[in-house]
Amino acid sequence: MQIIETVNAMREWTIAHSDRPRAAVYTMGALHDGHLELVRQAKHYVSAHTGEHPYVVASIFVNPTQFNNPEDLERYPRTIEHDLEMLSSIGVDAVFVPSVEQMYPDGVANVIAVEPGPLGDVLEGEGRPGHFRGVLTVVNKLFNITTPNYAMFGEKDFQQLTLIARMASELNMSIDVVGVPTVRDDDGLAMSSRNRRLDESGRAIASRIPAALMMVKNCVAEGIGVEESLNRAKHYLSESPEIAIHYLVVTGNELQSAPQHGAARVLVATEINGIRLIDNMAIEIKGA
Ligand code: PAF
Repeated sequence: MQIIETVNAMREWTIAHSDRPRAAVYTMGALHDGHLELVRQAKHYVSAHTGEHPYVVASIFVNPTQFNNPEDLERYPRTIEHDLEMLSSIGVDAVFVPSVEQMYPDGVANVIAVEPGPLGDVLEGEGRPGHFRGVLTVVNKLFNITTPNYAMFGEKDFQQLTLIARMASELNMSIDVVGVPTVRDDDGLAMSSRNRRLDESGRAIASRIPAALMMVKNCVAEGIGVEESLNRAKHYLSESPEIAIHYLVVTGNELQSAPQHGAARVLVATEINGIRLIDNMAIEIKGA
């Protein structure tokens, strides 16, 4: 696996590896099996769609422009040696590990940014102003630097995935943005770099989050109304006083208003002992 630190070297690598499709997996490090699943799916998806084994390029870059809280940026776990071992063991071909200066040579305050539009201001965007502007800006830069044909993003960050897919479509990028289903631990909790900050009791409490989503999923599949289903799940979550619910909503698959029936999404954000956890699930509304 080649470790590449500069934009120029990354460009040279992509030119030298143009004989097969390229798939990208972008990360901020602190890797877990959910990230490795993005790599596995990159290989699987591209082989199934093209009959060719792709080159897989990963990146590790803790992007300052997507943090609206400097302490969060400071506290973000950095486990680079371990991350590189994991990426190498799963068969990544190149990993891009740029410095902040490489990515933002004119400084983060002067960056020319991608505006996410109104979808960037709701749900995750409401409590984190500028977050999705930072995400789209860095992903756009990474797209330009690594020029992939395919880019894999986890469904765990469903709003991020939706916005990146929209950016690729609206800005006419010829990149296939592929969503990868969430990887869950045995207790149902969605894998996330933040889970490592939960202690044993926080972890037990957090397993209520996927259970609450399953409750909504089962209720709406039985024909119980969306509002009533959400109320039941909110009640279940609130039985644990440690859980603060930031939002629990049902939307359409493009994050528009919930449909009367058919495929939809339930999304939740909570805080447990100061740790913010998000999750979501695909649901099927039976309707009246
Ligand atoms: O999901 C993440 O880890 C980040 O938001 C991403 C897509 C790597 C952009 O910094």
